[in-house]
Amino acid sequence: MAVTQRLDKLLSNFGFGTRSEIKRLVKQGLIKVDGETVKDSGMHVAPQSCTVEVEGKILNYREFIYLMMNKPDGVISATWDGKHKTVVDLLPEEFRCFDLFPVGRLDIDTEGLVIMTNDGRLAHGVLSPRKHVSKKYYALIDGNVTQSDIDAFAEGITLDDGYKTLPARLEILSSGENSEIELVIYEGKFHQVKRMFEATGKKVKFLKRVEMGDLKLDESLELGSCREMTPDEINILKNSQPRAAEGEFIK
Ligand code: URA
Repeated sequence: MAVTQRLDKLLSNFGFGTRSEIKRLVKQGLIKVDGETVKDSGMHVAPQSCTVEVEGKILNYREFIYLMMNKPDGVISATWDGKHKTVVDLLPEEFRCFDLFPVGRLDIDTEGLVIMTNDGRLAHGVLSPRKHVSKKYYALIDGNVTQSDIDAFAEGITLDDGYKTLPARLEILSSGENSEIELVIYEGKFHQVKRMFEATGKKVKFLKRVEMGDLKLDESLELGSCREMTPDEINILKNSQPRAAEGEFIK
């Protein structure tokens, strides 16, 4: 049986105004369901299967919203912060009504890929420590990153609190006084990338997340902007969840 919901609640959730504003639109004959002008704003509709039209515009119904954001420096990946701007503050008006939250956290000074959604199950799947969804970072390192770092990261790094990380895949893009690297990790400990480099006596000068699972940051997204993910990208993310067994990590 089709799941139904009140028309005024549905439209209000999709940012068409308060329930009383929607009632007014109904009174003005501006809302149609399957081509019929609506008389009661409290009527029940099946949004998956019917066509809802508001002032001539067809409602693009989605059960869940999935956005890809390119987080800039200086913004907190949380829904609220008393002091700093959050990723929610960066959302365009049209997405404000969906109660979106970021999937996982990036440090305030880390840039790059943040997924914003209202799909709690997906978020749980991506974040579950047992699933080991990979995260790939690009970083600029103060110091000379060498093959011995690659070997040490592949073994797992013991952090300042004694925790030994899972094996991680380090790739050197350029090395010297400063080095450019890419690092894939399979967990998300607090400040993990920075602490892994600190443990090898080096400092992360710039950090950017470029992938989560098999989902890649769209490099054409400007810093601070976001867009809805395509159905293919949503599938890529969903299928990234069950991760390879330990031992397969660094192949
Ligand atoms: N590791 C860090 O150190 N910081 C981040 O923001 C993400 C991973």
